[in-house]
Amino acid sequence: MIPQALILLMGAAVSIAAPAGSKLSLQNATAQTASPNLPVLPGLQSPSAVTPAIALRYVTLGIGHQNYTCNGTSLISTGATAALFDITDVVTAQPELIQFIPAVDLAWSGLATDNMANNKDKTCDTQDFSRSVPLARLTDDNRIGFHFFAADKSPVFNLNLASPPAVLTSAKLGDVPAPLGATAGPGGAKAVDWLQLGDNGQGRSSGGVTYVYRVETAGGSPPATCSQQGSVVRQPYAAEYWFYGPSSA
Ligand SMILES: *[C@@H]1O[C@H](CO)[C@@H](O)[C@H](O)[C@H]1NC(C)=O
Ligand SMILES: *[C@@H]1O[C@H](CO)[C@@H](O)[C@H](O)[C@H]1NC(C)=O
Ligand SMILES: *[C@@H]1O[C@H](CO)[C@@H](O)[C@H](O)[C@H]1NC(C)=O
Repeated sequence: MIPQALILLMGAAVSIAAPAGSKLSLQNATAQTASPNLPVLPGLQSPSAVTPAIALRYVTLGIGHQNYTCNGTSLISTGATAALFDITDVVTAQPELIQFIPAVDLAWSGLATDNMANNKDKTCDTQDFSRSVPLARLTDDNRIGFHFFAADKSPVFNLNLASPPAVLTSAKLGDVPAPLGATAGPGGAKAVDWLQLGDNGQGRSSGGVTYVYRVETAGGSPPATCSQQGSVVRQPYAAEYWFYGPSSA
């Protein structure tokens, strides 16, 4: 269910829709100099507190599924897959959208109803997200990479379409519940936690991206209980992933 405020925003958002392939150019002067501010919650280390210093590289929208397997009583996280879209220019131009983009785009993505949600064996093919959505333009032009879990369960962010390409093979550093009132996913699935992740030290990261924050989450949590051992649940979710790398200053 999308709150009334978001419905109003969705109407407003249409006005910032850009044709596929075009870049928003609302404020090219500010875009070069200002950096959007990461929303942080108490309990997560702020980027400015990280040493050595880090600087923002990309703000992305991740949209996909959280994956759970039933152990007989509880659903245990077994990873996630998401397509990542570059929204740096959008949130720089319109920081007031930061808190709404994942919730609105999850609703618009159709993930709750499309055949992907019903096909448990299908991997998260980015083709499923190629429909055009005004708030953050889920198009191939803006796709910057993908998120998945490695065989050893490390969360991986492969920004293969960034320039230069980058890979972050990470470990979780911080974890706090999403704020009260965070947007639920289909079936009332609560928003997943906000996280700080950093390079896991395995030497499998490259391209100058060393930290990522998952914030402004929408949906993705599992049902509270399950009974059929081994059954798999895939929960649609969206979140902003803010990527940081070593500060050159
Ligand atoms: C945006 O950048 C172009 C090219 O550099 C410049 O001509 C234009 O004046 C800029 N617009 C604003 C609003 O600063
Ligand atoms: C399933 O996982 C939950 C949560 O981690 C745990 O409390 C429970 O003991 C597990 N059940 C089985 C059968 O392993
Ligand atoms: C989801 O979990 C199932 C069962 O563990 C596994 O076979 C599948 O590869 C997982 N998919 C993703 C995207 O994590």
